[in-house]
Amino acid sequence: MSKPDISTLSEDEARAELERLAKALAEANAAYHQKDAPEISDAEYDALKLRNEAIEAAFPHLKRADSPSDQVGATPSDGFAKVTHAVRMLSLGNAFDEEDVEAFKTSIRKYLGLGPDASLAFTAEPKIDGLSLSLRYEQGVLVQAATRGDGAVGENVTANARTIDDIPQELSGAPEVLEVRGEVYMSHADFQALNDRQAQAGGKTFANPRNAAAGSLRQLDASITRGRPLRFFAYGWGELSEDLAQTQYDAIARLADLGFQTNPLTRLCSSADDMIAHYRQIEAQRATLGYDIDGVVYKVNDLALQGRLGFRSTTPRWAIAHKFPAELAWTRLEKIEIQVGRTGALSPVARLTPVTVGGVVVSNATLHNEDYIAGRDAKGNEIRGGKDIREGDWVQVYRAGDVIPKVADVDLSKRPEGAAPYVFPTLCPECQSEAIREEGDAVRRCTGGLICPAQAVEKLKHFVSRQAFDIEGLGAKQVEQFYSDGWIAEPADIFLLKDRYGQGLQQLKNREGWGEKSANNLFQAIEDKRTIPLGRVIFALGIRHVGEAASNLLARNYGSWDAFESAVTEAAGREGPAWDSLLNIDGVGEVMATALVTAFAQESERASIDRLVAQLTIEDAAQPDTEGSPVAGKTVVFTGTLEKMTRAEAKARAEALGAKVSGSVSAKTDLLVAGPGAGSKAKKAAELGIETLDEDGWLELIGAA
Ligand code: IVH
Repeated sequence: MSKPDISTLSEDEARAELERLAKALAEANAAYHQKDAPEISDAEYDALKLRNEAIEAAFPHLKRADSPSDQVGATPSDGFAKVTHAVRMLSLGNAFDEEDVEAFKTSIRKYLGLGPDASLAFTAEPKIDGLSLSLRYEQGVLVQAATRGDGAVGENVTANARTIDDIPQELSGAPEVLEVRGEVYMSHADFQALNDRQAQAGGKTFANPRNAAAGSLRQLDASITRGRPLRFFAYGWGELSEDLAQTQYDAIARLADLGFQTNPLTRLCSSADDMIAHYRQIEAQRATLGYDIDGVVYKVNDLALQGRLGFRSTTPRWAIAHKFPAELAWTRLEKIEIQVGRTGALSPVARLTPVTVGGVVVSNATLHNEDYIAGRDAKGNEIRGGKDIREGDWVQVYRAGDVIPKVADVDLSKRPEGAAPYVFPTLCPECQSEAIREEGDAVRRCTGGLICPAQAVEKLKHFVSRQAFDIEGLGAKQVEQFYSDGWIAEPADIFLLKDRYGQGLQQLKNREGWGEKSANNLFQAIEDKRTIPLGRVIFALGIRHVGEAASNLLARNYGSWDAFESAVTEAAGREGPAWDSLLNIDGVGEVMATALVTAFAQESERASIDRLVAQLTIEDAAQPDTEGSPVAGKTVVFTGTLEKMTRAEAKARAEALGAKVSGSVSAKTDLLVAGPGAGSKAKKAAELGIETLDEDGWLELIGAA
């Protein structure tokens, strides 16, 4: 193939050549990585890659979505089948210091109502920095392996998992159904060797062992995974046809007996001192373990107690991750920029001279708000000894877990001469609307609403995010593109895209990264989401203070969009029965309720919501699976002292049985559970003729006496 000088290429020629190069490089990659049989020399490969990069540099707008410059080696892994987890895969709450660990223990004792003398043992084990995997065995045979995904639905990576030596294909003496959960990780030595190999082959190198493990497991072609040295530690389970043991410690021992690797640093601790001592021991060994860990996980040992404690929306009450202190590094703060979020919040961001912190290159850090920059906390107390942060400062940054890096300190001795205190803007940098700070709010907010492009785009990004509409092929990047092209200005427009496209947006398929097929796939993905559960719609609206858990709570309480919408509309005056019933939902406070009714009462926002809803078929909220539950759908109020369980436990159990737990008695109350000392609520219930039970009566009713 002759190679014309790039400067003489027309756009069409450049586009065609990029397409040819993408194909040639994909073939070369497949031959090299998947068939282990390279068809061209390394030098030829490099030349193709360089040519591709040079054309992309000259015609950046023609860069392909599947550009070879962005690829590791083989096809990107976006084609895994989905697996719905039989038991959700959750994450862990965090403790950052001993006080947090103490609070964790206290809250468990309180929840369970344990007296000061009752013993409470925990296991303590390293928190492996990898990615979690669920392995399903039926009749002792590995039938499925799935990543965590969003906790409810993961990716089917069975073929890949089968290539990992630590994962047994068959078990003897296992329960009929056994889901083993644990962490896939890569050792430091294997990570180094892999990166060396990748670099030599001109492939992408990985930033850290965790990314390498994830990238290696999530390969569409399992033969690539086979060549990657992955390992697996088992630390838990999902669905089981019979119990593994009575305690966490014994259950893990049982998994070890069945042939799984379990972490040798797992200990049983009977006191807080034991837990902290073990934490220190693991911390001391951290550097020489040979694999990355980022903390210590404590779990209640008694599995019956684990069962009673249960889960919050995304984390178990019976376990916590005690994280190691964050790693620190010094660098230059080059500039302070203001980002405008979905709810109009002006968030200052530090642009840093890139620096490596704990294996990851950091170039941005959050500065929270204007008080933080000025060296004060929300209450006006000094932080960092009152030192403010200025552009040009020498700052210390840290990362804790996956969170956004933060600025810990400023070195005043290195402050450039003439550096001026930072002046926080009072106009929105995106739309020039006034940015105001309400009394008691640490954050300054743009008042532009949907006329502010930043708010509109962030709202759209939130709308398509994974916990909201989760439209395949429509991520943050595409939303930005479509918004700046004027194709979508609000969520409803997403569902009108296809019609508009039909009437002349033929450009889509000519746009960078889009073809006929991908455009049609996008339209199909959008169609697929026209029918959507109520909880997701509420969350997708992006109303302040209304997160995922709250959205699901509201959905369960109101059941249907119509009921939800009319309740929130009626509550607009912030008084009357609709307002009271909103506040009566356990978990909805004034702040959230106010945010909700304000959003629905705001004319343009309401119109935008109505336009969206007109495009959708909203599914009523699924009630919890409570077949045979005597209290499903009933509104229950607890009052007085409970003696067999704490209030929190009683509430969690009632909710698990499909009851709504309310804080006050009204005509809508179906049942009052009154312990000793019950006062006005019992009186009111009696007046209203509401059925009243004592604690034993309640336990008997729910079959737990
Ligand atoms: S137990 C119900 N134990 O940490 C949740 N998790 O931050 C049970 N992880 O998603 C998790 N080491 O991927 C548990 N020894 C360990 C762990 C561990 C690493 C990961 C796991 C989890 C994440 C939560």
